[in-house]
Amino acid sequence: MAVIENSKVTIVGAGSVGSSAAYASLIRGSARHVALYDIATQKVEAEVLDLAHGTQFTGSSDITGGSDLAVVEGSHVVVITAGAKQDPGQTRTELAGVNAGIMRKMMPRLLEVAPDAIYVIVTNPCDVLTVLAQKETGLPPEKIFASGTVLDTSRLRWKLGQRAGVSTSSVHAYIVGEHGDTEFPLWSKATIGTVPILDWVTPRGDRLTVEELDQIAVDVRDAAYKVIQGKGATNYAIGLSTARIIEAILNDERAVMPVSPVLDGFHGVSGVALSVPSVVSSAGAAPIVETQFDERELDLFHRSAAALRDVADSLRG
Ligand SMILES: NC(=O)c1ccc[n+]([C@@H]2O[C@H](COP(=O)([O-])OP(=O)(O)OC[C@H]3O[C@@H](n4cnc5c(N)ncnc54)[C@H](O)[C@@H]3O)[C@@H](O)[C@H]2O)c1
Repeated sequence: MAVIENSKVTIVGAGSVGSSAAYASLIRGSARHVALYDIATQKVEAEVLDLAHGTQFTGSSDITGGSDLAVVEGSHVVVITAGAKQDPGQTRTELAGVNAGIMRKMMPRLLEVAPDAIYVIVTNPCDVLTVLAQKETGLPPEKIFASGTVLDTSRLRWKLGQRAGVSTSSVHAYIVGEHGDTEFPLWSKATIGTVPILDWVTPRGDRLTVEELDQIAVDVRDAAYKVIQGKGATNYAIGLSTARIIEAILNDERAVMPVSPVLDGFHGVSGVALSVPSVVSSAGAAPIVETQFDERELDLFHRSAAALRDVADSLRG
């Protein structure tokens, strides 16, 4: 596999998340060509125009789009953000039924126009929809995966960086499992620089405690609810997270990211999509099987898998 020249990403869904992902991709130069597709013609054309009006300032990327599926043709990456969003107080799994229906209809049509693309599922519940979309398309698991806990991991690193008094990029910690209520941090491997998280001395002169870390994990897990309560949607941070995943694929970076492909024998879990540290490249996402979990983390991981299996089963029934 190699860096993709003259690269094209299409973002499906021009709502808050899709438009922000397109905006972030343009600004960061994540792809040479950025396209936006939505069934809502007026909305998508307006978003494309607004974005196009700023391309004097966005380097070599360009933006096209509309409500004709031909927009998606020639894509190397297709990002799915189409579908209903979480209402205040609604869990991601409650969204499952509605968005599963949209996904079942949409995926075969997308695959017809972009058969060789890597598919990134952002629409929630992203893990469950990835299993469904992988089955629907028959794509190899590495070529279709959810953005998963890339966003949650960024939230975690920001919070830890603030408390530890270091930049977000100096925090090495991962949220794994479901993108949702059963997600959890891999604390056993978390470090600030090279220092184990519990040994780090903060600018206040104290250390983080296990209780504080537990609270941070809860805050990160519930962060989306707080943002949705205040402004009706989360969009900027997921837009940036998505752009970052697009870059890792198109630049064949082999970047380690907690994305969520359908797992096959990962710590005893198969047939469920869960976020685990994975190598992301132009070949897609490959879970890192050597990732170590302590006993408690392994238990939480299996619980996350069981919860998602229940949701997936309820969609079949
Ligand atoms: N995975 C994550 O980390 C994460 C983070 C934030 C939001 N989300 C999810 O992203 C999704 C989108 O959220 P939003 O705030 O942008 O919603 P939104 O309502 O603003 O936009 C959704 C868009 O999807 C379009 N759409 C619906 N059916 C379509 C179809 N068949 N083909 C093409 N387009 C279609 C709609 O016209 C609309 O423009 C939601 O499911 C939300 O929960 C995921």
